[in-house]
Amino acid sequence: MTTFHIMTLFPDMILQSLHTSILGRAEEKDLIRFQAWNIRDYTLDKHNKVDDYPYGGGAGMLMQAQPVYDCYKAILESIRKSGCEKDPRVIFLTPVGRTFRQAMAVEFAKEENIILLCGHYEGIDQRVLDLIVTDEVSIGDYVLTGGELPALVLVDAISRMIPGVLSNVASGVDESFGGNLLEYPQYSRPEVWEGMAVPPILLSGDHAKVDAWRLEQSIARTKERRPDLYGKYLKENG
Ligand code: 6GU
Repeated sequence: MTTFHIMTLFPDMILQSLHTSILGRAEEKDLIRFQAWNIRDYTLDKHNKVDDYPYGGGAGMLMQAQPVYDCYKAILESIRKSGCEKDPRVIFLTPVGRTFRQAMAVEFAKEENIILLCGHYEGIDQRVLDLIVTDEVSIGDYVLTGGELPALVLVDAISRMIPGVLSNVASGVDESFGGNLLEYPQYSRPEVWEGMAVPPILLSGDHAKVDAWRLEQSIARTKERRPDLYGKYLKENG
């Protein structure tokens, strides 16, 4: 079982979404587990404060090192109590991190415990990051108000690569990005909707022809929409 430990100031925001849909079902099947840890519970400040001004000045507030570190130590203790000796990955969600990719989801899916650290305000004191973080990850070139949504993105993408989470065994691999191609378009009933017909080849019953058509569609889409991916595809597939 993989346990996701999410360090956050907003545990409700995290748990609400994770207990829903496919991930909720995977949790009921004991394939994955979610634990949200409220960083504020670990502050030693008498007013429950977790942030302060940055040295050197500048806009906004920073999360202080102490509550983050003590929260991390509590998680580590719970991991050790569960019998796991391995040091967990600690992923800090930050716009200055490495951009998240499918290959990273595949790698992270092999871990028994994953700690996701969600920042807020203008960031976190660098000293605690230096001490505990193993991976800094961004989900793309835009700025969000906090790390919670990115953490949910990672949990979703990682979970679906864990065996048993998706009911269709094939659907984790035969898809966009695995082979550097975007997925082909799909159609369901009725055969004609609003005057638009389903591509006739899909009704032909000829699986080889259907596969060839889908590959062709994938290639055309990738070339048009993602020249970067298309270049990789060409390099790897001649
Ligand atoms: Cl991981 N955090 C924030 N705050 N903004 C982001 C991001 C992460 N990834 C893209 N934008």
